[in-house]
Amino acid sequence: MKQPIYILAIESSCDDTAAAVFKDNLLLSNVVASQKIHQEYGGVVPELASRAHQQHILPVVHQALAKANIDKKDVSAIAFTRGPGLMGSLLVGTSFAKSLALGLNIPLIEVNHLQGHVLAHFIKDDMDKQMPEFPFLALTISGGHTQIIKVNNYFDMEVLGETIDDAVGEAFDKSAKLLGFPYPGGPLIDKYAQSGNPKAFLFPKPKVKGLDFSFSGLKTSILYFLRDQVSKNENFIEENKEDICASIQHSIVSILMDKLKKASIETGIKEIGIGGGVSANKGIRNALKQAETDLGWKVHLPKFEYCTDNAAMIGIVGYLKYLDGDFSEQKITAKARYHI
Ligand code: KG4
Ligand code: ZN
Repeated sequence: MKQPIYILAIESSCDDTAAAVFKDNLLLSNVVASQKIHQEYGGVVPELASRAHQQHILPVVHQALAKANIDKKDVSAIAFTRGPGLMGSLLVGTSFAKSLALGLNIPLIEVNHLQGHVLAHFIKDDMDKQMPEFPFLALTISGGHTQIIKVNNYFDMEVLGETIDDAVGEAFDKSAKLLGFPYPGGPLIDKYAQSGNPKAFLFPKPKVKGLDFSFSGLKTSILYFLRDQVSKNENFIEENKEDICASIQHSIVSILMDKLKKASIETGIKEIGIGGGVSANKGIRNALKQAETDLGWKVHLPKFEYCTDNAAMIGIVGYLKYLDGDFSEQKITAKARYHI
């Protein structure tokens, strides 16, 4: 009988320290330690993030192995996030993974975090879920990334469009900050939007060529709009919170959907895979559901814990690379800017 492959995966690219264990493509454990410290500062503070990674990494890895009920001696290879991300944060995971692989004398596998978001659809767990068929269009939407990718095969990906300024999660969080919400404010905009009128206020759409995105103009127009309104009525935000949130969300969702529809028409692909923390947004989920009915799309949404930053998505890439014998050398270094 074929011996199973056990992959230990480590993710530390931003503000979550995460570890996961796979038995072949089956996820055995998935542990994430989120860093609360950044909330006080209204955004991720890189120096604090790397220090918190140093504190979390060992307990998180121990817990992942314990939950998977395996010993470190059983691990076949270590997969880790090489980039993109915050350099100080990446260094913690990279150094840890390198030393552990060296100590255990097993292969080391570098993983591109963005490929992780795209290939998270292929994580197998106890739930039987249909996986996307190739080729599919992947829309990665998070606090750090906004990309439309044509996925021809596991490691044959083409970026069709990406943001030229802010990521979509940043657009949510920065808008939320203007409304006085705590960080990260995206989920709060989503919450208040439910009971608001999405057409109450109109914000101009950015004109960006091709399949690229821009969100910084939207943030500026929201800023000016609120400044005008508050100068006339100081309670404007409080009195119109739901309508403002619904209108902001509607603008962001239509920017995303316009480009995704354009990409689908240009490529003829109707198989769509969504990833990243913003895929929790109810506005985008409803718009995608509508597109399934109206346009015949087939939309794949992984479980939420595989959408936000996690090590399971790093582990599945590690497993697929293991099958290809695609291993890394000990001299490998972290890479803050790293394209797919
Ligand atoms: O993937 P993620 O956990 O971390 C990054 O790689 O950035 O994404 C976090 C982002 C934050 O910007 C957060 O505000 C946003 O996802 N987010 C949401 C929602 N849930 C999370 N934005 C809008 N609506 C939501 N329901
Ligand atoms: Zn991410």
